[in-house]
Amino acid sequence: MLYKKITAGLLAAGMLLTLAACKKEEGNDGEARQVSIGVAVYKFDDTFMTGVRSVMEAEAKAKGADINLVDSQNTQTRQNEQVDTFITKGMTALAVNPVDRTAAGPIVEKARAKDLPVVFLNREPEESVMQGYDKTWYVGAKAEESGTLSGQIIADYWTANKAAADRNGDGKLQYIMIQGEPGHQDATLRTQYSIAALREAGIEVEELGRDTAAWDKVKATDLMKTFITSKGIGSIEAVICNNDDMALGVIEALKAEGYNTGDPAKFIPVVGVDATAPALAAMQNGSLLGTVLNDAENQGKAAVHIAIAAAQGKTVDKETVGYELTDGKYVWIPYVKITRENYQEYMQ
Ligand code: GAL
Ligand code: CA
Repeated sequence: MLYKKITAGLLAAGMLLTLAACKKEEGNDGEARQVSIGVAVYKFDDTFMTGVRSVMEAEAKAKGADINLVDSQNTQTRQNEQVDTFITKGMTALAVNPVDRTAAGPIVEKARAKDLPVVFLNREPEESVMQGYDKTWYVGAKAEESGTLSGQIIADYWTANKAAADRNGDGKLQYIMIQGEPGHQDATLRTQYSIAALREAGIEVEELGRDTAAWDKVKATDLMKTFITSKGIGSIEAVICNNDDMALGVIEALKAEGYNTGDPAKFIPVVGVDATAPALAAMQNGSLLGTVLNDAENQGKAAVHIAIAAAQGKTVDKETVGYELTDGKYVWIPYVKITRENYQEYMQ
């Protein structure tokens, strides 16, 4: 008898638990299905991606979703293992900022095997990989656009200050290009389109030197020092950088030579991309000419919104995620040119 009672009790409790679980899983209107997003970031020690991941964390919390962020420490094999762990833990959506954007294929395969949605961000996978599984999305920004805008900032400066800016008076703009990580779409296209924008503005350009500092401030300082030694500071008329951390690193090297510290006769225009807080501060003190807003807030929010909608089995579209989708898969967040005229609006 007692045995039967206990069994019945356990059964009832079990049924209640099952009911509760069902309720949690329900995808329809009122009760949102509990979503847990596993986010793997290529490396935590990256200024711009730190901004994006903070936004993602806050947005997931605001929307009542669980979020688990991990640092892939710039190692693709580690990231693949982290994805395995997310799947084992029962995450209902993945958001991945690949270490190597050409290595997104295996991640998509893992997601597909479990019918899990996967949102890539900031490092764009190859199109074939994106098209190979219907539950893949990409959130990013058009690298070409940021290249064009940063080139225009230098072009405008050159045109307005030609006499001083053309330091050797040969009519050509001698520049140094500091690039991000090789193979990254933002490094390749920002470089290409910034130079194209200068040419489009009718400026004759000459590249004095180009190399990668892998998005990193300290590496950029070292690289700039070697350029200063090999080319001579007097020959450099502009420095174009694929991101702000590197622009700030370049400025350190210039400052060591007494440049960009306030003396107008000793100023070399430097431009970056991202509009990070330290870059905006450098604009305020006059050491950085300009930058381009890489909108961490909207990129982070869009990625979280897609992950949530997809995990809940909803159609991912403007209505469910609040962002326009191209080909049903791509969210492109616009860049904004940041100059002396508008930088203050972007300071926090
Ligand atoms: C770029 C950004 C860089 C760096 C890189 C990482 O969009 O401008 O600063 O964060 O992404 O993939
Ligand atoms: Ca010149």
